[in-house]
Parts: sequence; structure tokens; C-alpha cells
Amino acid sequence: MASAAQMKDPLLVGKAIRAQLENEIPRDLPLEKDFSELGEYTITDHVLELHEKLSVNPRTTFIIDNLVKHLHAFARETMLTHSEWETAIKFLTRAGKESSQHVNEFILLSDCLGLSVLLDELNHPKPAGCTLGCEEGPFLTVDAPEVPSGSTISHPDTTGEKMHFSATIKNTKGEGIAGAKVEVWQANGDGVYDVQYAVREHPDDRARIVAEPDGSFSYRAVLPTAYPIPSDGPTGDFLAALGRHAHRASHIHFLITAPGYDTLTSALYPSHSPFLGTDPVFATKKSLICELKQDKDPKSWKEKGFKEGEVVNGRVWVWSYNFVLPTLQEVAEVKKIFNERKEKQI
Ligand SMILES: [Fe+2]
Repeated sequence: MASAAQMKDPLLVGKAIRAQLENEIPRDLPLEKDFSELGEYTITDHVLELHEKLSVNPRTTFIIDNLVKHLHAFARETMLTHSEWETAIKFLTRAGKESSQHVNEFILLSDCLGLSVLLDELNHPKPAGCTLGCEEGPFLTVDAPEVPSGSTISHPDTTGEKMHFSATIKNTKGEGIAGAKVEVWQANGDGVYDVQYAVREHPDDRARIVAEPDGSFSYRAVLPTAYPIPSDGPTGDFLAALGRHAHRASHIHFLITAPGYDTLTSALYPSHSPFLGTDPVFATKKSLICELKQDKDPKSWKEKGFKEGEVVNGRVWVWSYNFVLPTLQEVAEVKKIFNERKEKQI
């Protein structure tokens, strides 16, 4: 192992290192064992041993060591070739280069690998009986208008068949959560969000609604349809290489907050939507799929607040759901199990 003096010896180290040594002398270790894929002491052991001896942050070392273990096991299990490694490196390089402020290919990739949903499950575990969460997606904005329950949130010209959505927000005891705040956003009947309009003059198909004293709320809008995630970049090629498509099942996004309760980020899906079983980001969950009714009675349309002549195709889609939110205390108890597991591992 080189001493600090040896490290500064121009015969042993080049000038680039000597310049850096002015700031910090790195910790060095003797090389004690030979690693070999065919021997008992492998490159994996060597990396882990080095990290253990030099660790400056236990959590960082723990995470990277697990990554190394799984990555090395992956290479061994697949007998990864240099050519395949090169394909992966080129793919990741492309993902970086083709990411923009609107589309982050790495987040898309995380979504399409099921990692984003897994992270949500791990970080927001739900007690039994509570509404399951799913990812927020990229289309939540900060400018949704605050409107009273029972409002119309689609512009009169927005494409799509009319829909009436009503829901209750309750706790695990079945009590309505008065004043819960609901952020709702959805695509229109063309599968397009307002932020994707060529000209966006105002927010459309999105709103902030405060629940009534009994925890209920409702709104009128157009029925959202299925749409593709960005698929003209490397993630699109990744999906195609696996025989998968980029089309998300139709859905409405919800973000529900209430003091003392765990925030719920979720989405609901109509049972008639295609792609429920092949959703590219794995965000469809059975308990979030709803059976919609078709209201074909003009008198009933009027009672729901639709104006004369605005209903198209002779029907209004009627959608209802009962959200159940856990208290922070209830979530803390479930999280305790995850935290105990985490503490055992570090
Ligand atoms: Fe969405």
C-alpha cells in the first residue's frame, strides 16, 4: 500500500493525480487476494469488500452493494456478451441524449419496467380496504381552477362524450371526510391532455374540488379515452423489442388530501377500456377499475346538470366510486413493517 509520500513521488504517479493530492490524500489499501470468476473469490467479493472498508455512508454503501450484487448476478445468469453490453450502453446513452424537459426517457423506462409502481407500493403502503394508489404521471399542473362540487370541468368545445362522475371520500370507519381536497385531471375524448393542445388558452379537464361535509363530490366532464405514452424514443423501441405497445388504458387521475390522512395519488379506469391488462406502465389495478353506466334519459341528463343539446350520441356516461383513505397513524403502522425490514438490512 502506497504511503502519502509515495503518492506524491513523480516516478509513481502522474501529474494529474499529484495536482489532486494537494486537496485530499485518498485512502489506499493493499491488494490481498486474487479475484477470478472461476475461483472462490470473485470480482463481486472484491467490490463489496472494498466498499465495506472504505464506506463513508452506510445507506449509500448498502444500496450500491445490492446493485452490484444483482448486476453481477444478472451478467452471470444471462452470460452477457460484450455485444449485448454495448447495446445496453448505447441504449442508455440515447435515453440521456433524447430526454427533454417534457419527456424524461429514464422516468419512462422506470415506468415501463414496473419500477415506478413498485416504488409507490413500497413508500405508500395501504392498509386493507383502502383505495390503492398509482403513479401521478406527467400531466399534473399547478393551474387547475378551484370549482365547487357539481361543476363542469370540460370546456364546451372539448371533444368527447359527456360523463358525470360522483364519489365519496371516507375513512376506514366508513365516515365521510369533510373538506377533503381533490385534484382531478384527465385526457379528453381524443386521449389528449390540455397541456398537449396546440394552443392552450386555459386549463381544461382538470380542477380542484373540495368535498362536501359528507365527503362526497361530483363533476361533469367528457369521457377520457386511451392514449399512448411517448413512444418515438428509446423507450418506444424498448417496448417494441418486447412485443409490448405504448397505449395506456383510459383513466382519470386523482390526488386527494385531507389533514390527518395519507395523501392518495391514484387513477380510476373504466372497465370498457382496452389495454387494461397490457398497460405499459403497470398502473392498472383491479380495484381501480369501474363499471360505468350509460344514461340515455334526457330528463336524467338535466337533473345531472347537462344543458339542453350538449349531450352527444344520445348518452351520458355515469361513473361513481368510493375512495377510502387511511389515517397517517394507520399508514405509520403498516410502514413500521417496511422500516423494520430496512433497519435489519443496513
Ligand atoms: Fe394519464
